[in-house]
Amino acid sequence: MKATAVAPANIAFIKYWGRKDAALRLPYNPSISMNLSGCFTTTTVEFSKKFSTDTVSEGFNSKRIIEHIDRLRNIAKTDERVHVVTNNNFPTSAGIASSASGFAALTVAAVFALGLRLSEKELTELARLGSGSACRSIPDGFVKWDGEFAYSLYPQDYWDLRDIIVIVGTTGKDVSSSAGHDTVETSPFFKKRLEEIPARITRLETAFARKDFQQLGEVIEEDCLDMHHVMQTQDPPLYYWNTETVKIMELVKKRMVPAYFTIDAGPNVHIMCEGKDEKKVTNYFKQYKMIINKPAQGAHLI
Ligand code: DP6
Repeated sequence: MKATAVAPANIAFIKYWGRKDAALRLPYNPSISMNLSGCFTTTTVEFSKKFSTDTVSEGFNSKRIIEHIDRLRNIAKTDERVHVVTNNNFPTSAGIASSASGFAALTVAAVFALGLRLSEKELTELARLGSGSACRSIPDGFVKWDGEFAYSLYPQDYWDLRDIIVIVGTTGKDVSSSAGHDTVETSPFFKKRLEEIPARITRLETAFARKDFQQLGEVIEEDCLDMHHVMQTQDPPLYYWNTETVKIMELVKKRMVPAYFTIDAGPNVHIMCEGKDEKKVTNYFKQYKMIINKPAQGAHLI
């Protein structure tokens, strides 16, 4: 059977960095994110007795994709071969979470193509096994991943926020985030990060409840810098920024526009603002290529 799903990338406000259990992708800490309307993966999965081999679109990590398909084939108790056709509308491996949208779309399409009927919670648990952050691309809007599964905190229309991604690099990264997670304990600052996260989550959840953008922005920047502090002090150290990244961070910090930044495992800067200030921000950064994102619904069949 055949199914096609589309799933958004997501940007984490409180980051997932480090796993208690690498095989099960169980995180050390809860994370909170927003689905991105302008960055998505569309994936078609077809299983058939007529296929003699598994195939995956060129340019994608077929080993990791087929490992995930194998988990789902085991659940469905089938050995039918698969054809996976997948496509991102944004540059892969540039700090826009392509593994998140990719494994969310793959999970939803494959589960339906296999005739399995699972709850959203179960879909998030399965997507997590493919890529941790993928579990946050399944529920709608603003999402919390806590332990084994993820769920929506608020729908996409709760708060008219923007994530304006300023593109300063589109080349693949030297060290994947998967490899980075494995050495997180070598940073002398990782333990401190874990101690600070519960209070930071409370501050973020309060900012959400009150729609207090300043508080939201301050927490987002703090957690981003804290995660990169850990990354840069791991052994081997991970430097995902380039000179343009730092230039944009400095510009945001001047607060000429009401905006805050966050950065994942890549050089591009995600600038967060409220919808009413979108034009001010895009105008301020107009010399750069940008992707404008609103909060979006989670993964779904099309
Ligand atoms: C920096 O979800 O890509 O983007 O579980 O190995 O696939 P795997 O890791 P991944 O890690 C994402 C790390 C991050 C922060 C975040 O999105 O929370």
